[in-house]
Amino acid sequence: MRIIYCDSVFDNKVVEPDYEEERNSAKKNGFNISIISFEELNENNISKALRFVTESNEIEIGIYRGWMLNTEVYENLYNALLKKNIRLINSPTEYKHCHFLPESYEKIKTYTPKSNWTVKTDKINSELINSLTNDFGQTSIIVKDYVKSEKHNWKDACFIPNAADKKNVNKIVGKFLELRGESLNIGLVFRQFEELEFLTEHSKSSMPLTKEFRIFFSDKKIVSVFDYWDEGEYGDSKPELNKFIEVAQNIESNFFTMDVAKKKDGDWIIMELGDGQVAGLPDNANKDEYYTQLKKTLHNNTYK
Ligand SMILES: Nc1ncnc2c1ncn2[C@@H]1O[C@H](COP(=O)(O)OP(=O)(O)O)[C@@H](O)[C@H]1O
Ligand SMILES: [Mg+2]
Repeated sequence: MRIIYCDSVFDNKVVEPDYEEERNSAKKNGFNISIISFEELNENNISKALRFVTESNEIEIGIYRGWMLNTEVYENLYNALLKKNIRLINSPTEYKHCHFLPESYEKIKTYTPKSNWTVKTDKINSELINSLTNDFGQTSIIVKDYVKSEKHNWKDACFIPNAADKKNVNKIVGKFLELRGESLNIGLVFRQFEELEFLTEHSKSSMPLTKEFRIFFSDKKIVSVFDYWDEGEYGDSKPELNKFIEVAQNIESNFFTMDVAKKKDGDWIIMELGDGQVAGLPDNANKDEYYTQLKKTLHNNTYK
């Protein structure tokens, strides 16, 4: 089993400093390690990106742990690694399933805020924005793309207090599009805003932080549950896992995260899914424990 990290931009023989602790924990837990160049990968220089990846003699399962990749780049990485006998834990289709909210929405619909979105071929204009936001009446909503929000620009480019106030809707969506710029992933997503249990205000962006958790699943089993935020006092609150484990059985991915949050009325909801390979571990995470658990989960299933 191979874990693949990105290199440091200053020295492409060593791991990117943000992942160094993870790499050490993976090594301690007996995983093989490889390093690739994120920059070269995104420049489409695949063989250069993978020049330090040694070929495996027989098919070896791989897990990429690094920055988010767009779906085309992931597919390139998947295919290039396969040529070296390394098969990433998720196929490109499985990667997309959790990376793009619209892909898995049907599977999580019962437990996630009502959402709608533009499709790839849509031309984004006020008419379209108005018609999609009409579905939410006068309630509050949030805007994001298929993958990410501008949550740290909460008031200007994420939270929309009243979906019926079209002037403000267009202003916030405009700001969101401006900030995302070239990195906009496919299209816009509008989501019903849910009142969540308050935790604290983010120390840098003053975004309201709420009681959210990140659950890692491998082969549909829980690997770890983390407090999502590194700030604030979570107290005793822990998510009710049973219904989420049930939902996880239908998710078409071998390694993914499910971010869950507690509503003010006490109900738990799914905030979003993510591919497990590109989902960050919170700073508070015990990396050794995480890799030990990952190893155990992987050992008990087909990914030996
Ligand atoms: N529908 C919603 N209701 C309430 N809070 C939300 C909603 N959507 C997002 N948020 C808040 O904004 C944060 C960022 O949203 P998220 O969908 O996770 O985007 P990102 O992919 O950028 O992390 C969430 O962690 C949550 O605190
Ligand atoms: Mg999130």
